[in-house]
Amino acid sequence: MPKETTVRIKEDFKEKNILSLTQFDIPSLLKLFSVADHMQLLSLNSSPVDILKGTITTLLFYEPSSRTFGSFAAAIKRLGGATVDIVNPQLNSSVAKGETLVDTIRTFEAYSDLIIMRHPEKGAAQQAAKAAFFIPIINAGDGIGEHPTQALLDLYTIYKKFGRLDNLTGLFAGDLLNGRTVHSLLKGLSLFKNNTIYLLSPQLLSLPSLEITRLKKCGLTIKEIRSEKEIPPQANFWYWTRVQKERFKDLEEYEKVKKSFVVTQTLLKKYAGKEMILMHPLPRLDEIESSIDADLRSVYLRSQVRNGMYIRMALVSLVLNKIT
Ligand code: NCD
Repeated sequence: MPKETTVRIKEDFKEKNILSLTQFDIPSLLKLFSVADHMQLLSLNSSPVDILKGTITTLLFYEPSSRTFGSFAAAIKRLGGATVDIVNPQLNSSVAKGETLVDTIRTFEAYSDLIIMRHPEKGAAQQAAKAAFFIPIINAGDGIGEHPTQALLDLYTIYKKFGRLDNLTGLFAGDLLNGRTVHSLLKGLSLFKNNTIYLLSPQLLSLPSLEITRLKKCGLTIKEIRSEKEIPPQANFWYWTRVQKERFKDLEEYEKVKKSFVVTQTLLKKYAGKEMILMHPLPRLDEIESSIDADLRSVYLRSQVRNGMYIRMALVSLVLNKIT
């Protein structure tokens, strides 16, 4: 019988794979957020903490990463845990000799208590979870599929700013087809009532219509727009994203759409409210002008990155059952 991999969390994170936002319900999110608040306090004190002492986590990253890799590594080390870092296994491990994903996972599960994996193929995290007999897998991004831990930190950032995750209006802009962080965050927002989401992208990079139908069924109100002029003035947050060059087969197509929507001072002045926040999963290329960084509504290089570490500290501690 195939092993069930995407088990619902239901406030019990112990030894569960974290593969998709579909595993979460509202109480589980709130539990994670309250542990993350506690982790923030621990980090601000910089006091020695040994919640993860004696544990080893494998960080298996087949794709480049700064924040996801760095914040997981820092999160685990802040809590006294250790990591085995396998960065670019295509070059630096037996994957270079042709070893399969299944064998790689079985090997590293023999050495560690948890595997956190980023992989270029959608569905690879599910495959890894099926292959692992003894330990959980956390999906750190599977191709254009999902990026659940980014969505968790994004939801936490919105929650901390507005004190709620319902009755919000949000704008998603950029590469909504290939942006895995968008796919996960929309699933998270669809758990809550009365959220209205505007989707701004070139036609070529639209969120797939199947996904839109599914999200609408879950209760999200979705409006696709094609021009900045249609940005709603009441938006609570803008979630801007990079056009994902590495997902294009034809680079000429990429060149045509890469600068479709750019946050400029003029755009902010015209369409953004005073209390909104401007988010971005990063890395940011040209789609947000650097002068915008100084605007206090820009949270991408402020609370959003910091929250990433707190959420990951909380998540790893809960999954490894070191905190309840
Ligand atoms: C994103 C990713 O890898 O999906 N980055 C991240 O993990 N924060 C976004 C991106 O690469 O554009």
